[in-house]
Amino acid sequence: MPQFNDTELTAAVIESFADTPDPRAKFLLQELVKSLHDYVRKTDLTFEEWEYAIDFLTRTGQKCTPIRQEFILLSDVLGVSMLVDAINHRDRDGATETTVLGPFYVGEHKVMPHGSDISAGLSGERMFVQTRVTDLKGKPLGGAPVDVWHADDDGFYDSQRPTYATQGPTSRARFITDSDGRFHFSTILPCSYPIPTDGPVGEMIIQTRRHAMRPAHIHFLVAAPGYQPLITHVFMEGDKYLDSDVVFGVKDELIARIEKHTDPVMPDGRPASGPWHRMTYEFRMKPGEGAAPKPMMAKAEENA
Ligand code: BEZ
Ligand code: FE
Repeated sequence: MPQFNDTELTAAVIESFADTPDPRAKFLLQELVKSLHDYVRKTDLTFEEWEYAIDFLTRTGQKCTPIRQEFILLSDVLGVSMLVDAINHRDRDGATETTVLGPFYVGEHKVMPHGSDISAGLSGERMFVQTRVTDLKGKPLGGAPVDVWHADDDGFYDSQRPTYATQGPTSRARFITDSDGRFHFSTILPCSYPIPTDGPVGEMIIQTRRHAMRPAHIHFLVAAPGYQPLITHVFMEGDKYLDSDVVFGVKDELIARIEKHTDPVMPDGRPASGPWHRMTYEFRMKPGEGAAPKPMMAKAEENA
């Protein structure tokens, strides 16, 4: 009957994975054991702390639903999502920078015609968004699907509202670029918002005296065939949380200048009831391949 001191125990657990057929899975598991055991030794973890950690992870799993992903949120606030992003996108070669997908890539992204108002009926100052998708040399990429989603003026995504099931998506759509790589739409000016704080991750943020805010942004997922899928946001310049995003997702290049206008007629011909805004941004795609993630609800339906 083998008996181990704490270092021998680590070696024995690592060895227990020796026959794992997939070499990458074997490497990942053995390194995980090494890091976990080191953490336990370094911190002199007590039984109470270990039980707390198990309970925290259990509650994190229990908070997940087909449209809520508390584990992604945990990964985001611990900086793991941005670290995975950073090590997988070390050489951008001039391509647009990437950032976190976030937990709200859920629901249905319906293809909408260029010029659509994706936030019809929502309160907030109007914003007109004009974008273009090109390769690294500036050649336009036509026919590329681009998913767009952002929070409303109260800082909530459509999927967080009880009305989602009956009213469907808002501030969420898919556009297909034209032959010049362009698409445009109108919406409301997004605002900064807190990540959900009604679960274990939010509890941790509050108990550790961090703030829960993300600077205002629009999410974009560009999936042009022959190019790496681009998962990114465009941030609104001037936001007071740009320097302290709770998920560490801001990169300078992703901050767009937003022009403020006071003309009485907006670009869509409608009368303005207050100031309106114009955002322009160009996405440069890196050649390559890769599967774009699917919105969470679609994935849940596939797995059902
Ligand atoms: C978001 O931008 O939707 C988001 C990203 C990470 C955590 C929470 C929200
Ligand atoms: Fe967001």
